[in-house]
Amino acid sequence: MQIAVVGSGYVGLVAAVCFAEMGHSVVCVDNDERKVKALQGGDTLIHELHLPELLKRHLNDGVRFTSDLAEATRTCQAIFIAVGTPQSETGDADLSYVEAVASKIARHMTSYKVIVEKSTVPVYTNEWIRRVIERNGVAREMFDVVSNPEFLREGTAVMDFLHPDRIVVGSETPRAAAVLAEIYAPLTDGSYYTTPNAIAGSFSKDAPPPLLNTSTKSAEIIKHASNAFLALKISFINAVANLCEATDANVEQVARGMGLDQRIGSRFLRPGIGYGGSCFPKDVAAFRSVADQLGIDFSLLNEVEKINWRQKARFLGKVRSALWTLRGKRLAVLGLAFKGGTDDIRDSPAVEMVQMLLAEGCSIRAYDPAAMERTKHVLPPAANLSYAENEYDAAHEADALLVLTDWKEFAELDLARLNQTLKYPIVIDGRNLFEPAVMQQHGFTYLSIGRPTVSPLRETVGTALAQA
Ligand code: UDX
Repeated sequence: MQIAVVGSGYVGLVAAVCFAEMGHSVVCVDNDERKVKALQGGDTLIHELHLPELLKRHLNDGVRFTSDLAEATRTCQAIFIAVGTPQSETGDADLSYVEAVASKIARHMTSYKVIVEKSTVPVYTNEWIRRVIERNGVAREMFDVVSNPEFLREGTAVMDFLHPDRIVVGSETPRAAAVLAEIYAPLTDGSYYTTPNAIAGSFSKDAPPPLLNTSTKSAEIIKHASNAFLALKISFINAVANLCEATDANVEQVARGMGLDQRIGSRFLRPGIGYGGSCFPKDVAAFRSVADQLGIDFSLLNEVEKINWRQKARFLGKVRSALWTLRGKRLAVLGLAFKGGTDDIRDSPAVEMVQMLLAEGCSIRAYDPAAMERTKHVLPPAANLSYAENEYDAAHEADALLVLTDWKEFAELDLARLNQTLKYPIVIDGRNLFEPAVMQQHGFTYLSIGRPTVSPLRETVGTALAQA
């Protein structure tokens, strides 16, 4: 099928390339000429597993890039809107980009089109898109508006797209539902998984992913409710972690014990310095705002946000408890991205922590495998902030090392070397990447989230002193 995807951000670009991978002919539209040029040259612009390889495989064959929305509208039967819905000052999603795209599509429609909202949008957006198109003089029978939310996570976006837990299609007419069913058929009938070089994952020809047909409003709510629920799970385990700290219990054991209950599930029960990224903070705020506007008391979401914010303040307190005063302390920071596996620093708790520590008068040498360039564009250059070549370079002569992002490679560091590199062997881990007993054996004072703090064993200290 001929598909247009409007917007080449995380969602739009991944959708465009993956639709091509599923055998469709895709045109991806963006009004940013610089981006279009880069994509035409094969540069994905974002750090995302499998994306460069798939873009190379389909560029100019299955997928092409343009800034011409009018032409894309004329030639494609299905048009996916995947433009940004940033948070406005009131917490609402700003839908002006969605509206602008809908109006433009309306002005260039010459035959029946299915317009699909893929961006995360509040309930009733579908209805608004329909009204905007009708206001532009298009007859109702010439189009349908479908809600097809995307659940992809950054870092595993391609896998999430091609191996989705579920595909949600919210539509009001059988003909629109049929178009979406055809688009996703390679996944739902399993045929994609038998193609040569198919991206492997949890689904297969014999066990394909399910497609759930719903009303448009239900689909819109599914997206916001899912993200809000996952954020709630994280805030819940963070609150439990704090309880564990107060009682000398171990949150990892508690989370495991809870997660083994299949009704709860073990995923998204990792405590840390709070959730961040381009979705959770924005979507929780937007969902709360929708509830407010509808007169529904959903103050539970305020608590989710409050716990998330306090988690960062608590971590700062932890650093203080380990180092006493902060002014003039030299800290190694591992991690700037909002989570491991991505270069994205939007609403990154790690970057916020760095800002808080700089404000306290610390000097920071930071390292991140992918997010340093982006951080340099956001944080103003400062004498007390520098960027390291690698983890050990960051740790060199530091008063303590802070782990702020869950990059896999941090968990694999050579602990003996790390100990020797630091001025004081103190590690404050906001992501629980290490085992306290192992850190203790390696001579560290180790503070983490929701687990007892450990100090070096006497004999380790003795050996270190003897060696010194
Ligand atoms: C999220 C949703 O998972 C995805 O379905 C949606 O489409 C977009 O938003 P993403 O923002 O890429 O995806 O990241 P995710 O992996 O969900 O993590 C979000 C934040 O929560 C990160 O800061 C992460 O570090 C944190 N997190 C996640 C935890 O603190 N603990 C956990 O157990 C899981």
